Amino acid sequence: MFGTIFLLLNGLLLLVLLYSSRTRNFILPLNCCVLWVLPVLDRQKNEPPLDKGFLPWLGHALEFGKDAAKFLTRMKEKHGDIFTVCVAGHYVTVLLDPNSYDSVLYDTKSLDFTRYKNQIIKRVFMGVVNLHSDAVFIWHSRRHFHGLNLSKLSSSMKTHLQTLLMDDQKGCSPSEWKQDGLFSLCYSLLFRAGYLTLFERGDDATAVYTEFRKFDGLLSKMARCTLKRGKHESRKANSSRERLWELLSTTWLRRGSEVGCWQQSYQCYLQEEGVDAEMQKRALLLQLWATQGNAGPAAFWLLGFLLTHPEAMKAVKAEIRGLAPQDSSLQQPPLNKLETHSTPVFDSVLSETLRLTAAVIITREVVQDKTLHMANGQNYHLRRGDRVCLFPFLSPQMDPQIHQEPQKFKFDRFLNDDMTEKNTFYKDGKRVKYHSMPWGAGTNVCVGKEFAIRGIKQFVFLVLTHLDLEICDPQAKVPPVNPSRYGFGMLQPDGDLQVRYRLKRTWH
Ligand code: HEM
Repeated sequence: MFGTIFLLLNGLLLLVLLYSSRTRNFILPLNCCVLWVLPVLDRQKNEPPLDKGFLPWLGHALEFGKDAAKFLTRMKEKHGDIFTVCVAGHYVTVLLDPNSYDSVLYDTKSLDFTRYKNQIIKRVFMGVVNLHSDAVFIWHSRRHFHGLNLSKLSSSMKTHLQTLLMDDQKGCSPSEWKQDGLFSLCYSLLFRAGYLTLFERGDDATAVYTEFRKFDGLLSKMARCTLKRGKHESRKANSSRERLWELLSTTWLRRGSEVGCWQQSYQCYLQEEGVDAEMQKRALLLQLWATQGNAGPAAFWLLGFLLTHPEAMKAVKAEIRGLAPQDSSLQQPPLNKLETHSTPVFDSVLSETLRLTAAVIITREVVQDKTLHMANGQNYHLRRGDRVCLFPFLSPQMDPQIHQEPQKFKFDRFLNDDMTEKNTFYKDGKRVKYHSMPWGAGTNVCVGKEFAIRGIKQFVFLVLTHLDLEICDPQAKVPPVNPSRYGFGMLQPDGDLQVRYRLKRTWH
């Protein structure tokens, strides 16, 4: 009797194990009371190495969420350029060979890029699913960040940056130093200028910025569903989101009659798509995040690196001075020279900054079984229902085989000896197609790239030409990155870099 029950239990356990496990386990009943579960023969032919982690279902979720770069570096050292990990019930194949990225980026048949994204959007922005599709991408790229529209937007951005910078200095005496965190200084100015440019409203830019920073601070936790209830984080996130919806929709309503601005045409697009009013306002917050969440942090890292690397600052300032015509009556080079003259040093500094601090994770869902062809000739089988992701931050950006001393900021890394842009890099003697991917690639490429580059350069140019700016502690270094931000575009610092600044005498 007991024997029968025991055998039945064994059978049941075997079924559960086989069902819940992705592996094909061998179960050997020994001495009628011990079960040996051997994870052998566990991979289908040609599948990437599997690392499930110790925790059932959760797998590596905690380590991944805490510091994705550290975790994936460990996995890369253990398994190589391709492996599959279990993360909160999902099997995620991580590909870290940039020469093989195209087989993921350009496969729209077996891989789907909207499903996973929509899931995150649903968590963070409470809806707006199905808006975030190829159609939105095309709408953005074709109509708004190119050609004449791009010139108009950049020109408006320039005006807003200049006005805000000067307004913020109003009431200060010429010799008076102000002290602030560099991150706050950069984020606040670029966010407000970007918001005024794209959303075309003035009086609430500071309120929107203040609320957005609260929301942005909880973003990674919202996306990973790790908001702490005890600390009222959920409540904080909800109220911040609602306040932003409110601020953005009043903006929208007041501007309702004007045609032609970015926000207005986005509204028209949504209405044509049959999106209801509630979803429209949620979509606006998503757009606010996509368009204003990265430039400020990028400008912070750029200025932070310049301030802590005097040789780089000297080279950039020399290049800026060179933009001023010799006989110019102006004491400062005009801002519009940035668009008409090449600035290879400045461009190299920006590329180097983004190499070190842009960390998008590109994720796709496998919708039908796929064979992934690697550049080295190996083929791997990807299972339907799994996810595949690329983490360009680890490779190419921080890959020591592509970039020597990858942890170091080298302002001339992207400069050739003849001062042209250096864009050829090699791995194992073979030229790499992607040597840095801050803007994503394929269907994940940033549609605001040109606008962002111009805005960041305008901002840095203005700061360097209008302000005396120095770090409070001459020995200070740029702060470390906040490791929870890997995967969400530009990284943010853990802490800030204290600076003091005042308007240059020429501008008083
Ligand atoms: C340093 C600054 C920036 C970086 C590094 C950056 C990077 C990226 C990346 C990697 C993506 C793809 C994300 C993904 O699909 O997972 C993206 C998407 C996008 N970016 Fe940027 N971006 C920056 C600034 C901007 C700016 C200033 C704008 C617009 C004014 C902008 C507009 C967008 C939009 C609209 C998308 C598409 C979002 C969507 O899929 O609907 N970005 N960006």
